[in-house]
Amino acid sequence: MTIHIDAEKGDIAPTVLMPGDPYRAKWAAETYLENPRCINQVRGMLGFTGTWHGHDVTIQGSGMGMPSLSIYANELISDYDVQTLVRVGSCGGMQENVGIRDVILAMSASSIATPSGSIFREFNFAPCADFALLVAAEKAAREKGVTTHVGSIYSSDTFYDERPDLNEQMTRHGILGVEMEAAELYNLAARHGRRALAVLTVSDHLITHEALPAEDRERSFGDMIEIALQAAFA
Ligand code: ADE
Repeated sequence: MTIHIDAEKGDIAPTVLMPGDPYRAKWAAETYLENPRCINQVRGMLGFTGTWHGHDVTIQGSGMGMPSLSIYANELISDYDVQTLVRVGSCGGMQENVGIRDVILAMSASSIATPSGSIFREFNFAPCADFALLVAAEKAAREKGVTTHVGSIYSSDTFYDERPDLNEQMTRHGILGVEMEAAELYNLAARHGRRALAVLTVSDHLITHEALPAEDRERSFGDMIEIALQAAFA
């Protein structure tokens, strides 16, 4: 047991999917896992463990933002010896050719700041995905027929952004989308020698101002879960 996860050691699988929303964790576990059981309820940040095609998997909510994800990822890595961590979540599109519902596989995650900043100080570490996970996720997404983009994203500390000039520079430099967790997940994976990937669905768009209709959210989220599971066990 840790401060934020009240599971016993053996209750968490070596592979963990991390949606931001704990109710998404519940839905994904009940929809995709065999024999899902709730293994964490501390602060309502639900986690479930079950099996997928015979493989043990945990789906644990991360909360929103890098400080929250950092708490759960740190405890999963250090106390439960988790080896593979796949974020599954939404992002805002930042390129004209990136559409609502498209999937983005985050090859790297830029940021203004992360919780690891105090370690790096003046050094601009480039957080990046595990290559094997990235390649396997791209294959899984292609086989599913989901429009998929592989490239760099921006992990922001704000959802309500006041820097349109900065967003323009990111678009100019090919950043595909913006979310709020991946950079620190990649930092932690690098520091501890674990595998990490962020699989993201475009839920809103910073240029076109479109948004994913509520009725489509479940299907898009389901596609991401399947891509993440196939990549984790490829
Ligand atoms: N997650 C989904 N859409 C987002 C946005 N526009 N900014 C930050 N995080 C997001």
